[in-house]
Amino acid sequence: MRIAIGADHAGYVYKGRIIELLEGRNIEVIDFGTMNLDSVDYPNYAFRVAEAVRDHQADLGILICGTGVGMSIAANKVRGIRAGVCQSVFAARAIKEHNNANIICLGARTNTIDEIVEFVTIYLEAKFTHGERHIKRIEMIHRYEEEN
Ligand code: RB5
Repeated sequence: MRIAIGADHAGYVYKGRIIELLEGRNIEVIDFGTMNLDSVDYPNYAFRVAEAVRDHQADLGILICGTGVGMSIAANKVRGIRAGVCQSVFAARAIKEHNNANIICLGARTNTIDEIVEFVTIYLEAKFTHGERHIKRIEMIHRYEEEN
């Protein structure tokens, strides 16, 4: 398992903690930055991580900004990406089981680091197993992407 990770200045500190969590689980990490607390533009990091997932350099992606929302909006512009915002335990599981999200987007200003660690753990352990109706809906999204 290889995971691409990126954050803006708001998510930088949480990124370090998540990398520790991943490496503790023997997951290979590609860190796309940012590498300090200087103010940066979150779309740059979203695009780098999303392109790594799209191009199969990574199996999954993790993005952290203030809310997770800006990162998800940007990442979902990249073809083949299903980036889900996660601010709850329920969403951590559902974005994998229902949406087969290949990127989880987290908020450093909406959740504590302990919550974020729990969300990432649940997301990694959840499986996309919920059957035909979810497959059909995901296919609808990617068909739209192809045709428009
Ligand atoms: C940065 O101040 C903030 O706007 C960003 O981290 C994110 O929350 C955007 O969605």
